[in-house]
Amino acid sequence: MTYITNEHLLLRDAPKDKFYPPAQCRMFYHPLYTHFEHIDSFPGEEDTMSTAASEIALTGAAEKYGVLDMPDLSYTPELAKATQADYERVSSVVPPIEWPAFAPYVSAINELKKKRNAVILAHNYMTPEIFHCIADFMGDSLQLAKEAANTEAEIIVQCGVHFMAETSKLLNPDKTVLIPDMKAGCSLADSTTAADVRALREAYPGVPVVTYVNTSAEVKAECDICCTSSNAVKIVESLGVPKVIFLPDEYLAKYVASQTDVEIIAWKGHCIVHERFTPEELRQAREADPGLKIIAHPECPPDVLAEADFTGSTSGMINWVKTNQPPKVMMVTECSMSDNVAVETPGVEFIRPCNLCPYMKRITLPKILDSLVYMKDEVTVDSAVAERARRAVEAMVALKT
Ligand code: 13P
Ligand code: SF4
Repeated sequence: MTYITNEHLLLRDAPKDKFYPPAQCRMFYHPLYTHFEHIDSFPGEEDTMSTAASEIALTGAAEKYGVLDMPDLSYTPELAKATQADYERVSSVVPPIEWPAFAPYVSAINELKKKRNAVILAHNYMTPEIFHCIADFMGDSLQLAKEAANTEAEIIVQCGVHFMAETSKLLNPDKTVLIPDMKAGCSLADSTTAADVRALREAYPGVPVVTYVNTSAEVKAECDICCTSSNAVKIVESLGVPKVIFLPDEYLAKYVASQTDVEIIAWKGHCIVHERFTPEELRQAREADPGLKIIAHPECPPDVLAEADFTGSTSGMINWVKTNQPPKVMMVTECSMSDNVAVETPGVEFIRPCNLCPYMKRITLPKILDSLVYMKDEVTVDSAVAERARRAVEAMVALKT
């Protein structure tokens, strides 16, 4: 594989120190930990529990649809009874002591989304009370993009990160797309700009550019076609050319290169969650338990993937567990996914080498409720950029991978 170290082009590193203090995030899994608003307590970051109306900057969507009253959020015996079925669904991963904090939000959000004719799309990395109790559609980034393309709802609330919300907006220019926290970014999306793509095109004239969906609309607008981790190999091969530029994830590019004869020119973006796994920790886990199955996301470094029994997108990993029902499995990816799959596969024991995505974890029940009450934060894309970016997303969706 040809690999660009891009020193001669443009590169920024993701702001790791700001968003990812290792002492807070690189820890073994504890359910209470992931459910708190810890990400908002980083120095310099504001606290964002449900907000008073006076503090909200109203968006165009608020003017169009109006602001609703904040529902009563008391945990009463009646509410406990009304949300009993929701709690039972997640009781294996949400301790009973936490439910009184979640239940009023779950109930209010489920009411308000009907009132607003809104649909909630939740990525596999959402915490279980979001994923299993309020989401209408759950999945990996490809599945969410397809749901976004098909939905009849007027309003989409994207419980995931900003590039996913932008993808929904590209596919639904006339709908209102909300993200509960505008700061829910992605280190991969931060690693590449439109100017970087133009520089790559200049360096490799005539070579088509495939971009992972984990990029901004401006970057997509400069590319030929998008892909996700579940269809990257098929998309690269669909172009019928001997060489492609593939960005921004270096490790996904290396994984694709290992699966195809197409020559891959890669960029040097990394996912701050997956790049931190090491082959040593996988080996140690296997030595401690030789029957353990290890499955990993292709955003992990190649030496980590080499230790895994299976490599796949988030949904690929979920399907693998559901199909194979291993007695014990280690999912080498973001923490919350093991919880979400554990709910549906009670016979499988999960070992959790836990890395949190600090961006995904910005999405919480209080902020989702704020989204529906105040119609915030609205995701918009400049129309000239959107027109070009949409072509790249639609080219992917049209391939029916
Ligand atoms: P998937 O497309 O596999 O869901 O991956 C998205 C992502 O951001 C993983 O880190
Ligand atoms: Fe981006 Fe990595 Fe978080 Fe996925 S897990 S959203 S790739 S930073």
